[in-house]
Amino acid sequence: MAYKAPKGTQDLLPAQARAWEAFKAKALQVFGLYGYEPVETPIFEKAELFLRGCGETCDAATKEIFSVFSLGAVNCLKADQPLKADQKLALRPEGTASVVRAIAEHNLVPQGGAPAKLLYAGPMFRCERPQKGRLRQFHQVGIECLGATDPSADAEMIIMCMRFFEELGLKRKSMTLLINSMGCAQCRPGYTAAVKAFMQEHEAELCEECQRRIETNPLRAFDCKNPQCYEVMEAAPRFSGHLCPSCRDRHEKVCAYLQAAGIDYVEDPRLVRGFDYYTGTVFEVQVTEGLGSQSAIGGGGRYDGLMGEVGDRDLPGLGFAVGFERIMLALEAAGVCIGCPQVKPVYVAVVDDSVRPQAFSILQQLRDAGIRAEGDTQGRSLKSQFKVAGKMDAALAVVVGPDELAAGQVTIRDFSTHEERQVGIGQVAQQVASLLA
Ligand code: HAM
Repeated sequence: MAYKAPKGTQDLLPAQARAWEAFKAKALQVFGLYGYEPVETPIFEKAELFLRGCGETCDAATKEIFSVFSLGAVNCLKADQPLKADQKLALRPEGTASVVRAIAEHNLVPQGGAPAKLLYAGPMFRCERPQKGRLRQFHQVGIECLGATDPSADAEMIIMCMRFFEELGLKRKSMTLLINSMGCAQCRPGYTAAVKAFMQEHEAELCEECQRRIETNPLRAFDCKNPQCYEVMEAAPRFSGHLCPSCRDRHEKVCAYLQAAGIDYVEDPRLVRGFDYYTGTVFEVQVTEGLGSQSAIGGGGRYDGLMGEVGDRDLPGLGFAVGFERIMLALEAAGVCIGCPQVKPVYVAVVDDSVRPQAFSILQQLRDAGIRAEGDTQGRSLKSQFKVAGKMDAALAVVVGPDELAAGQVTIRDFSTHEERQVGIGQVAQQVASLLA
């Protein structure tokens, strides 16, 4: 085979594509209860939106950005409009920056206005080393809320996320909710300096990447997958000891709201998350079954500084995103199917070629009546049409034969009871509908 899907991507074949549709519909239903409305942003944006001048301090998620470029006048499929050399575009690695950009661009939160609550779903692109649960093109559903300051909004985000997982069919006890506070512009520098000093003391024990992080982004060392770094960072200072009174108060309030809502959580001082924009509350949901090392099925938090970087005024924000492919693995391990067909088809079989026009018309009548109907388009024998009907798990067959047709009738066969009945040609749709009911 000359062409295969690129490494780290996968086709969503009908069962997965149906699951994806069901997944999005569930998100609209659950998050709609909290006032979230759908939004669609471009799949590519100016690369700077995702990089935001981060240069060397960029963490993994931003280093993994796919850039988009024109193949130039020679190779470009549509060479009359090549991209300008200085116009760097990138495939979105996540939805947050794009949604915040759209909110700023369209002024969706005017001064004094109510928070903007937006929901998005679609493919995201990260040039990561592919493995189980980690793809280069994957699908997320996410929500973003811009303009809410109260700690109850942080708790509501987490509660909504857990509710969505449960509504999809994941059991609460199969999930672990981790939460932490990343502090704010007042307390983060002091904490970062304390971690940096600790890492300098232990530099020789850290991997090369973490040694670099001492200068660029010390907190990311908490997320290092190297077992030795993990052990060293166990003894590093914890943020809880460095939070300013306002961040501590917010964190305590968020925890109190979660307790009141009966949501179990684990405080994880090592939870730092992969994007640099977080401030205050961060959370992640992990599952134990079906995913191996890529166990995070969703996560997010507060990002009160992002709008100031992307737009031209400050606006507090928070949100989360969940990964479709990882959740599918977790649902599979739990034996839950989403988007499975609810309605079995009806198969219209022809006894010979002479009745194909009438069978064709019966098929249309069934569909006009809202009944899922299938028929033969390959010139198969009756026996082989029944085999096909069996494979598609048809509930009924409508058998169209020249003799019955001459008497104005067709035969309906019920595949579960093996009963057969003759019905008038004008009553097929009505009879089929009542048998299916
Ligand atoms: P994230 O933790 O990078 O956060 O991604 C959210 C979820 O997307 C992960 O928990 C995981 O389920 C899934 N995911 C991430 N990378 C991959 C991958 N390479 N392959 C398969 N699934 C993946 C964000 O994206 C933030 N924008 C969340 C957010 C929204 N924070 C605030 N608002």
